[in-house]
Amino acid sequence: MKYFIGNWKMFGIPTSYKIIEKIEKFFKKDIKNNKKYKIVISPPFTLLQNFSKRFKNKKIIISAQNSYFKDDFGAHTGKISPYMIKSLGVKYIILGHSENRASGDSNEIIKLKVEHALKNNFTIILCIGENKIEKKNNKTIVVLKKQLKNVLKKNFNTKNLIIAYEPIWSIGTGKLPTKKELIDTTVEIKKTLSQIFRKNIPPVLYGGSVDSNTIYTFKDIGLIDGFLIGGASKSSKKFIDIIKNYYK
Ligand code: PGA
Repeated sequence: MKYFIGNWKMFGIPTSYKIIEKIEKFFKKDIKNNKKYKIVISPPFTLLQNFSKRFKNKKIIISAQNSYFKDDFGAHTGKISPYMIKSLGVKYIILGHSENRASGDSNEIIKLKVEHALKNNFTIILCIGENKIEKKNNKTIVVLKKQLKNVLKKNFNTKNLIIAYEPIWSIGTGKLPTKKELIDTTVEIKKTLSQIFRKNIPPVLYGGSVDSNTIYTFKDIGLIDGFLIGGASKSSKKFIDIIKNYYK
């Protein structure tokens, strides 16, 4: 199973459901391939209730972009708990995105977030990735291993986990790892995951400047179980073209 996951970040108003509606229409018509992949769209908190109702029992999975690390309710201004998100019928959460790491989410906090969300039966899309300096200093694998080992525990249910490898220097920049780099890194990620979990390792996606052109670079790397798509997920056409070109 491949995943095409759209991360809208700070984008979208109530009428933006039309974007997802078009993607859903495409999915339903794509009978040749649509059993091979899942589509997840992650709008901001403000749209979760509306969209999860609208796309309930349909083909598109709605995901949250973050959640708080403790409590169901509490004195945490501006924070949202997994319990609150669950009450809207949403079952997926992105955690550890580099933009949240940049504003204070450490591996320790992310671990608590993952545990808290798993306890609420969520499927977690856990983002990992090295920055430009770490890459330059050949620290990529060390950084990724730390991000995995400090967050994941062997008793976690891997059925509820998806790992998204997103090199920070690639997010929104148009810069991509080479095919060899990406294969080597994905192999190391999967090796680390099998050290943690032994068997049944979670899927590993790639994210960072994925669009309808760059998708050609990745389509024959079977090792990659899907894609986390930022910028290009805000347009139904761009998002659909990624899937079309992947299966072309
Ligand atoms: P991008 O973002 O596709 O715009 O590079 C990816 C992400 O941040 O998840």
